Amino acid sequence: MKEENIIKQYSLDDDGTIDNTIRPETISEYIGQNDVKENIKVFVEAAKMRNEALDHVLLYGPPGLGKTTLAFIIAHEMGTNIKTASGPSIEKSGDLAAILSSLEPGDILFIDEIHRMPRYIEEILYPAMEDFSLDIIVGSEGNSRNIKIDLPPFTLVGATTRAGDLSSPLRDRFGIISKLQFYTTEELCDIVKRTSRVLDMKITDDAAEELAKRSRGTPRIANRLFKRVRDFALVKGTGIIDIKITNEALDRLQIDKIGLDRTDHEMLLAIINKFGGGPVGLEALSSSIGEEPTTIEDVYEPYLLQTGLLKRTARGRVVTDKAYEVLGIERKN
Ligand SMILES: Nc1ncnc2c1ncn2[C@@H]1O[C@H](COP(=O)(O)OP(=O)(O)O)[C@@H](O)[C@H]1O
Ligand SMILES: [Mg+2]
Repeated sequence: MKEENIIKQYSLDDDGTIDNTIRPETISEYIGQNDVKENIKVFVEAAKMRNEALDHVLLYGPPGLGKTTLAFIIAHEMGTNIKTASGPSIEKSGDLAAILSSLEPGDILFIDEIHRMPRYIEEILYPAMEDFSLDIIVGSEGNSRNIKIDLPPFTLVGATTRAGDLSSPLRDRFGIISKLQFYTTEELCDIVKRTSRVLDMKITDDAAEELAKRSRGTPRIANRLFKRVRDFALVKGTGIIDIKITNEALDRLQIDKIGLDRTDHEMLLAIINKFGGGPVGLEALSSSIGEEPTTIEDVYEPYLLQTGLLKRTARGRVVTDKAYEVLGIERKN
């Protein structure tokens, strides 16, 4: 694969439209994640004072919490270029070598889904991260030799939904490891209001709060719901987003009062109705609702665990009393 194909711009929104407008560009526009932000500010400041590249950064957490956004913000705050690649798209060692040798001093290399990078590619990264050196084999079989190329000092920013899937030698080479958390309703409310200003579409305070409550702690979902509610407000409402049109739109989209969507419901109901409330193994649950195990683990489960609707035990997933209550189902066992 050509380098241009691997280095993609990560600016597309879920619906394929350009999202640059609502993605915050500076650290002061980035709402929430205060601990992560404060630390990064200090490390960026120190690196700039020393006139060095920032130490390698690993960002992890569920999808839509702002990992890609933060990677771009780090580059912005460092005043450097950012090149992006995604773990599964780097298939050959030459692919990675090409990207690495195109870096300029201080550049950020952002690798998304870094846990999905093949192991033999990882091994090229180790010396690159540690000594800024690239060890590659050139020539044909029988006539090959190792050469060592010096790389400029650069910063690898890796993003992953599963830090646990990273090999420990790779994880150990990141100097800064930050876990992103689900956002509070207040933070999501601020995000929704910011999106309203950027997209120039008014939203009332109670509507913003309702949207925030129903966004699963996730900015990407808050922005996506904002756009859909905006459509309803334009076509069926008064042209501003008020509480009435918000409730109407979210009900139509089958987002419940606490932000669970149809798949969340299907999953909880399957555990209750088909597996007596659990415990149920991931594979059995996956085939029962027709979702990939990784999708369940990365996308659906984290929020259900966080809100205490689901529990993971040694024997499998179990639905909690709170889930029965939320779903309005009486517990039989
Ligand atoms: N802290 C934040 N403040 C404001 N908006 C945010 C924040 N984090 C994420 N977003 C919004 O949510 C969207 C999804 O974030 P993204 O960085 O793509 O998530 P991830 O890479 O973790 O899946 C972004 O396009 C941005 O508009
Ligand atoms: Mg991302």
